[in-house]
Amino acid sequence: GNEKSANVVWHNSSVDKLDRQKLLQQKGCVIWITGLSGSGKSTLGCALSQALHSRGKLAYILDGDNIRHGLNRDLSFKAEDREENIRRVGEVAKLFADAGLICIACLISPYRKDRDSCRALLADGNFIEVFMDMPLDVCEARDPKGLYKLARAGKIKAFTGIDDPYEPPLHCEIVLKHEEGNCASPYEMAETVITYLEENG
Ligand code: PPS
Repeated sequence: GNEKSANVVWHNSSVDKLDRQKLLQQKGCVIWITGLSGSGKSTLGCALSQALHSRGKLAYILDGDNIRHGLNRDLSFKAEDREENIRRVGEVAKLFADAGLICIACLISPYRKDRDSCRALLADGNFIEVFMDMPLDVCEARDPKGLYKLARAGKIKAFTGIDDPYEPPLHCEIVLKHEEGNCASPYEMAETVITYLEENG
C-alpha cells in the first residue's frame, strides 16, 4: 500500500512465533488500558506486570508518559499527533506480542477509531481492551500530577476531559468501574484481568 515501502520485501525468520511460545510457555498478547489522565492506568499496569511476573509470565509495559520521552518525543497532544502516538505504540505492541510477551499498553488513547486500528493489527483475541471507567471528577480530585489544575487555569490546552474529547469504549473486554465507597485496589483489578486471561486461554 505505502509507496515508500514499495521495494521492501518481508523477511521471514526460521524461528517462528510458535517456537517462541513454546520457549516462553506463554502466548503473546496486548492488554490495552485506556482511560482519562489520573484514572489509574499506569498503577494497574504496574500491578498487572508484577502479578504476571510472580506467576513466571514475561510482561512489558508501554506507558504513554514514558514513550513520549523517547520514541514519540516529536508528538504533541493535538488529535493527529495523538493518533500517530497510538499508531506507533500499537505497532510496537504488536511486535512485542509477536515476540511472545504480554504487552501492557497504558495510554489515554481517547479516540475509539485509533484503539480499533490497534485492535485490527492483532489476531482475534490477542487484543484485550481494558477501560478504566473512572468519572472525571474523581480523576480531577486526585490530580496526581497537578495537570487538571493547570488545564482548568488554561495553562494546558486541549487537556483530555477538560477541553479535549475522550470516547469511552462501546465493546471492550474488561471494564473496571469505579464505585464510590467500594474502590477495588490495583491488586484486585490486576487479578480481574488475570482471571480474564486465564479463562480466555
Ligand atoms: S494520548 O492521548 O493517548 O496520546 O496520551 P498519552 O500518550 O497516554 O499521554 C498522556 C499523559 O500526558 C500528560 N499530558 C496530557 N494528557 C492529556 N491531554 C493533554 N493535553 C496532556 N498534556 C500532557 C498527562 O500526564 C498524561 O498522563 P496520564 O498517565 O494519562 O495521567
